[in-house]
Amino acid sequence: MKAIVWTKYGSPDGLQLREVEKPTPQADEVLIRVHAATVTAGDCEIRGLKLPLGYALLLRLFMGIRHPRPTILGQELSGEVVDVGTEVSGFKVGDAVFGTTGLRFGAYAEYNALPATSVAHKPTNLTHEEAAGIPVGALEALHFLRSAQIQPGERVLINGAGGSIGTLGVQLARYYGGTVTAVDSGDKLPMLRSIGADQMLDYQREDFIRSGQQWDVIFDVTGKRPFGGCLQALKPGGRYLLSNAGLMANLRARWPKGNGKRVILGTSTQAIDDLLFIKGLVEAGKLKPVIDRHYPLEQLPEAHRYVETGRKQGNVVITVV
Ligand SMILES: NC(=O)c1ccc[n+]([C@@H]2O[C@H](COP(=O)([O-])OP(=O)(O)OC[C@H]3O[C@@H](n4cnc5c(N)ncnc54)[C@H](OP(=O)(O)O)[C@@H]3O)[C@@H](O)[C@H]2O)c1
Repeated sequence: MKAIVWTKYGSPDGLQLREVEKPTPQADEVLIRVHAATVTAGDCEIRGLKLPLGYALLLRLFMGIRHPRPTILGQELSGEVVDVGTEVSGFKVGDAVFGTTGLRFGAYAEYNALPATSVAHKPTNLTHEEAAGIPVGALEALHFLRSAQIQPGERVLINGAGGSIGTLGVQLARYYGGTVTAVDSGDKLPMLRSIGADQMLDYQREDFIRSGQQWDVIFDVTGKRPFGGCLQALKPGGRYLLSNAGLMANLRARWPKGNGKRVILGTSTQAIDDLLFIKGLVEAGKLKPVIDRHYPLEQLPEAHRYVETGRKQGNVVITVV
C-alpha cells in the first residue's frame, strides 16, 4: 500500500511516499481503507520535535534517539471497513467509520488496522473528509469543557479558538450554555462568529488579560498566556482549563488558588463513549467541522508546511482515496 513514512526529526522533507506492507487486522481490530486524515498542529510538533524539553526527550526514548523508527504519522481518520478480526462485533465490511489512532498513529496511509473499540460509525451527515476533522479536536475540547461544568449563561473564553480544538470548543461551549469569547488572530474572527462565538478578540491587537473583563471559564488551548494573568481574569469560582501545560504550569496548578478558582489540566482519554457522544452532537447539528484546505496524500509535506504557518482555520484534510 502507499503510505507517507516519517524518516527523520525536523522538516517536512523527512515525510516520504513509500510502498509499505498492508496491515493485517488482529482478532480485536478492524482494517480500514482510509479515505481522509488530517494534519494537526500536534502532528507537526511531533514530527519536528517542537515540544517542551521533557516531552521531546520522552518522544525520542519512545520513537528512537537519533531518528524515529520509520513510522506512519497521522492521528485521526475516516474510512471504510474492509476486513474485521475474528473477535470483532458491531462492525462489518463496508461500514463507514471514523476515529483516532492514538499513539499508534498511521492515518497517512491507504490502510490502517485499529482496535474496534477506538472507532465509531461515521456521522451520517458528514463526508469522510469532514468526519476526519472531528475526533482529535472534539475529544480534547470535550475533556476540558465537560470538566468545567459550564452553567447556562456563564462566560467562557477560548484562547486559540480558530484551530482544531478551538473551533470545536467554541461549539461545545455553546452547547453547554456558555456565552463564548473567541480569541485568535484577526483573519479567523469572521469564521469564529459564523460557528457561534458571541464575542471575538484579535490577540494581536488586544490582550484579554488586560481588558478589564472577567470570565467564568478560560480555556487556553495554546498554553501561551501567563498562568497568573489567566487566574486574575477569572471570576471567583472560575475554572482555568489548560490543554498545553508545561512543567511550571503543572506545578502551579497544584498550589491553592483562593476565591474557589480551579485549574484543570490533562488530556482526552479518547474513550469510545466520548466519540459516540460527539457523533450524536454532529448528527443533531450541534457540532460541525471547519475545513480549511484539502491536500492529496502525495502532498502531505506541503500540508505540513501550511499548518506550520499558523494560518490554518480549523482543519487541514488529507484526501487518501
Ligand atoms: N492536551 C493534549 O494532550 C493535547 C491534545 C491535542 C493537542 N494539544 C496541543 O494543543 C495545541 C493546540 O492544538 P490545535 O490542534 O487546536 O492547534 P491549532 O489548530 O494550530 O490552533 C491553535 C490556534 O491558536 C492560535 N494562536 C497561536 N498563538 C496564539 C496566541 N498567543 N493567542 C491566541 N491564539 C493563538 C493559532 O492562530 P495563529 O497561528 O494565527 O496565531 C491557531 O488558530 C497544540 O500545541 C497541540 O499540540 C494538546
